[in-house]
Amino acid sequence: MKISALFLLLTFSPALTSCGQTTRQNPGSSREADTSKTAYQYREAGYDGIGKVYMGREIAQVMGHLGAAWLDRPEREQEERTDLLLDALRLKQTDVVADIGAGTGYFTFRIAPKVPRGKVLAIEIQQEMIDDLNRNKQTNKAPNVTPVLGTISNPKLPANSIDLALMVDAYHEFSHPREMMEHLVKALKPGGRVVLVEYRAEDPNVMIKPSHKMTVAQATKEMKAVGLELKEVYKQLPQQHVMIFGR
Ligand SMILES: C[S@@+](CC[C@H](N)C(=O)[O-])C[C@H]1O[C@@H](n2cnc3c(N)ncnc32)[C@H](O)[C@@H]1O
Repeated sequence: MKISALFLLLTFSPALTSCGQTTRQNPGSSREADTSKTAYQYREAGYDGIGKVYMGREIAQVMGHLGAAWLDRPEREQEERTDLLLDALRLKQTDVVADIGAGTGYFTFRIAPKVPRGKVLAIEIQQEMIDDLNRNKQTNKAPNVTPVLGTISNPKLPANSIDLALMVDAYHEFSHPREMMEHLVKALKPGGRVVLVEYRAEDPNVMIKPSHKMTVAQATKEMKAVGLELKEVYKQLPQQHVMIFGR
């Protein structure tokens, strides 16, 4: 591994990060925005968690903008086989895709050319990421990309407007997963899909902090709570599973 890559890994990766990489959330303010009052429990925060528990899972801290360079590292395609991930989405040219927790737009700008008659809504809660998305939209000349500033509990999508809700390495850090998913389910068009890509918690060889990994069983339980059913799991990626849900 090159020195520069090692530096980024040590500094920003969810596996080995320092405190600078994640944004510790205040469980108090997180509680204030809870509309599903019974959905959450609170406890002392674990390693890189926020002390808020949803269906037995402690929610992870949000990856801060300081980690943006890690998302765009050149070796990511090889390490995560993001090319296979994109193929697994089986996109149609007309699809309207919401990339929720888009970060700097690693996936947004790879999806945009695959949906020339559709569009990509890149949803983020961090203004710095929205600024990056706007800059990258110019650089990539991607007129069918729209960055959207959402809130921690609402992706700000109209009802019945999207074919695919994609969350890559993002859902586990939503502080309001129930509220987010309720909005997303309403935003799906008939036949629409929800795709979660998460590091495999079943596999001890995946060297990522526990709160940044998820099992298929946990994800299935959480999606079932909002009326979604597991349709397919794509298992060909080195460290993650691609879990495809529908109504
Ligand atoms: C680890 S990054 C992944 C970024 C991108 N999906 C990628 O793989 O390159 C997770 C992102 O989710 C965003 N996020 C966390 N909670 C969110 C929410 N409720 N709505 C939208 N984005 C959120 C964070 O701001 C962060 O940029």
